Amino acid sequence: MTQRMTLINSPCYVPEIKLEKIDSMQELFSKPQPLSLEIGCGIGDFIVQLATRHPQQNFIAIDIFNQGCDKTCRRLDDAGVSNVRVLRTEARSLLLRHIKAQSLHALYINCPDPWPKKRHRKRRLVNSEFLKIALYCLEEGGHFHFCTDFVDYGIETSELLMAEAGFDNCHDQPYVHELGDYPISKYMRRFLKRGQPIYYCHYQRQPGYVAAPPPPPKKGFRLRWAQET
Ligand SMILES: C[S@@+](CC[C@H](N)C(=O)[O-])C[C@H]1O[C@@H](n2cnc3c(N)ncnc32)[C@H](O)[C@@H]1O
Repeated sequence: MTQRMTLINSPCYVPEIKLEKIDSMQELFSKPQPLSLEIGCGIGDFIVQLATRHPQQNFIAIDIFNQGCDKTCRRLDDAGVSNVRVLRTEARSLLLRHIKAQSLHALYINCPDPWPKKRHRKRRLVNSEFLKIALYCLEEGGHFHFCTDFVDYGIETSELLMAEAGFDNCHDQPYVHELGDYPISKYMRRFLKRGQPIYYCHYQRQPGYVAAPPPPPKKGFRLRWAQET
C-alpha cells in the first residue's frame, strides 16, 4: 500500500536517518532516563497517557505509517509531553540495528495487526524469534506488555511467553482480561466498547538470564516502505 506522506514538523519527531548518526537512543532526549519502547503507536493515545504518567522515563514510539506518526506527534505536542520521541520505522529493524542489549526498561505492543487469515499468520509481529529479540533488548527485570483482542493471537503469545526461558509471568495466569490501570489505546477502546475481551500479557525478563544475541538482520531485510522515506 502506498502511503500519503505528510511532512512532520514536531520536536518529538526523529527521522530514521538520524539513528545512523548517534551511538545511543538516549542522545535523542534532553536527559538520560530509563528508556521504553511502544511498537505500533497508531494515533498516539496510549503513549500520551503513559508518558504523562511517567515523566522520569524516556519513551520511543514507533509506527510504520507516516500518518500515525504525524497524529502521535500532534497529540504529544498538544499535551506538552517532552519525554517521547516518535520514529517512522519498522520494529524488528529498529530493535536489531539500533537498540542495545539490556537497554529497554519496557516494551509495549498493543493490538498489533492480527493477520487473521491462516496463510498470513507468519506475518504477525510477535513470534518466538521476536520474543528472543525482545529479551535481548530488555534490561534485567524489564517489562514486556502485549495485548490483543484476537483470541488465538492472545493465547498463542501467552504460550510462547510461558515457554520462553527468560520471562517471568507477572500474573498468575498466562494472560488476563483485567487491565488494571494499564492505559487504553484507540483499538483497545474500540474492542472493549463492543464487549470483546482484551488478552493482556505482562511478563518480565528474569534477573540473571543470559540472552543470546539475535542473528543479524538478513540481507534485503528492510521492507519496501522504508524506501519511500
Ligand atoms: C491495529 S493498529 C493498533 C494501533 C495502536 N497500538 C492501538 O492499539 O490503537 C497496529 C499498528 O501497528 C503498526 N505496525 C504494524 N506492523 C508494524 C511494525 N512491524 N513495526 C512498526 N509498526 C507496525 C501499524 O501501522 C498500526 O498503526
